Amino acid sequence: MCGIVGIIGTAPVALPIVDALKRLEYRGYDSAGVATLEDGRLTRRRAEGKLRNLERTLLEQPLSGRIGIGHTRWATHGRPNEANAHPHATERLAVVHNGIIENFRELREALVAKGRVFDSETDTEVVAHLVTDLMEGGLDPVAAVAAALPRLKGAFALAFLFAGEPDLLIGARRGAPLAVGHGEGEMFLGSDAMALAPFTDAVTYLEDGDWAVLDRTGARLFDERDRPVQRPRQTSAASALLVDKGHYRHFMAKEIHEQPEVVGRTLSHYIDPATGTIRLPFELPFDPTRLDRITILACGTAYMAGLTAKYWLERFCRLPVDVDVASEFRYREAPMRAGGLTIVVSQSGETADTLASLRYAKALGQHVLAVVNVPTSTMAREADILAPTLAGPEIGVASTKAFTCQLATLACLAIGLGRALGTLDREAETALVAELMAVPGLIVAATRREPAIEAIARTLSHARDVLYLGRGTSYPLALEGALKLKELSYIHAEGYAAGELKHGPIALIDETMPVVVLAPPDAVFEKTVSNLQEVAARGGRIILIGAADAAETAAITADATLAMPPMPPTFTALVYAVPVQLLAYHVAVVMGNDADQPRNLAKSVTVE
Ligand code: G6P
Repeated sequence: MCGIVGIIGTAPVALPIVDALKRLEYRGYDSAGVATLEDGRLTRRRAEGKLRNLERTLLEQPLSGRIGIGHTRWATHGRPNEANAHPHATERLAVVHNGIIENFRELREALVAKGRVFDSETDTEVVAHLVTDLMEGGLDPVAAVAAALPRLKGAFALAFLFAGEPDLLIGARRGAPLAVGHGEGEMFLGSDAMALAPFTDAVTYLEDGDWAVLDRTGARLFDERDRPVQRPRQTSAASALLVDKGHYRHFMAKEIHEQPEVVGRTLSHYIDPATGTIRLPFELPFDPTRLDRITILACGTAYMAGLTAKYWLERFCRLPVDVDVASEFRYREAPMRAGGLTIVVSQSGETADTLASLRYAKALGQHVLAVVNVPTSTMAREADILAPTLAGPEIGVASTKAFTCQLATLACLAIGLGRALGTLDREAETALVAELMAVPGLIVAATRREPAIEAIARTLSHARDVLYLGRGTSYPLALEGALKLKELSYIHAEGYAAGELKHGPIALIDETMPVVVLAPPDAVFEKTVSNLQEVAARGGRIILIGAADAAETAAITADATLAMPPMPPTFTALVYAVPVQLLAYHVAVVMGNDADQPRNLAKSVTVE
């Protein structure tokens, strides 16, 4: 989840490295650093905090080297300070690292016993000393890295720069992505194609276990057994333009407002508008009538999308659906029958736990379908079937448009699968598709409620705890609402199935406790009304998100009602997601928090 950039260039590289790191800042932003070679000597600048601090340091103390590596960090081992910032260096080399070296303690003890002195608390520094130690034993840089890699346990990506080697960078990939970029007399390394886009669109993705030796003329690639390998050179579609905020104050606001367009684009990937039916852009490589269960695996907001899809899949396909948090699933030794269907959901396509779950399911003979937003990601490449979400790059760390696009994709999949199974007839299909096609317009109508949401956000910003309640697909949305609020505002929030209120959380309700109730006009609205009355009877402060007449129908007085546009019942989650996101966003803004890069979080979590 850290960002890595390396350049063998023809002009000073420090500032271009920082520019590329800016495109990776979503991966981590607690400290950053860059190392170059000046007259063959390693020079380094590092700074705590966001990249602008490193940029300032570089303006005060510039670096002139034409080869270098850089890093933006999300701390795993050791606090986010300058001493723990990458690159880590010895007299012979500098290294940047993404991921975790699991056996760093034993390696460190052995190296300390040999007299090596460590400057940081990180697991990364052990790599610098290990390779240095091997070089002092007589190995050249390439042989030393080759000898060190098999001794490292964990999931990681690495990039090395060596003193006295102005034409050599080495990169290695095991469990965390790394790509090689090909230029004219220049070569590049980057955590993803987005970082490389300003330099080149010719990109080679390393396969897991690969390592690469770069010089100005090209790259030699080796697999995990050090056999020379060729990997295809691809043309990356990532844009060189730094994705910008437009007239918005934050990427998150821009991404929330992009939802009508990107949800529309995603839906049109799966819907034939002429017939009003689902047109899946892939053949199912199995007979769906033989399925006895579907398993959905994901993390964070993508998990909430999976929970929502369970309601649709069970209803349209009449199949049991298990939804699991990938970090729990992967270690549970869950039994899975060969020939079943596993769906992984991920914006990045790189989340370590989801990827491990994908591999587990595949190893047990499951057909794996990946709903991902990055089509070049590891999950996209390793799954049997790719069902892309067309949200475009999502920069805000808290997921918004990727979530609604996941919902759109999963809704279409559920309908498509229902048709293939014969559990949905054509008439039901066209009715559901018509409901989906109305969603982008309804999202526009929902965003128009922003002034009212801002007003509610001002009150909510004083709360210590907030409860979110919902039933049916509004239950996962209540979980998502609580997640968004805590991520962005650092206010404690909990999501609950409204029916569970009386089994515990009702004890919390008093006049200081805001309760956000998601009550769309769906099949369980009447049931939610009972829960609204239970909250009202105990003096709870209700923020009601529902149809214009919801409070009246429920015969309650809400502290605030957010009137949503009238809509049919099945896909309300796609529309009600908008006020949920905007509420968390505006609370963050009112409180003066960084809505795009909330504290301690990172967008792409490639460590366990
Ligand atoms: C992080 C992000 C979340 C995201 C989750 C899963 O926690 O901050 O926004 O939902 O990872 O990421 P993925 O890329 O797999 O969807």
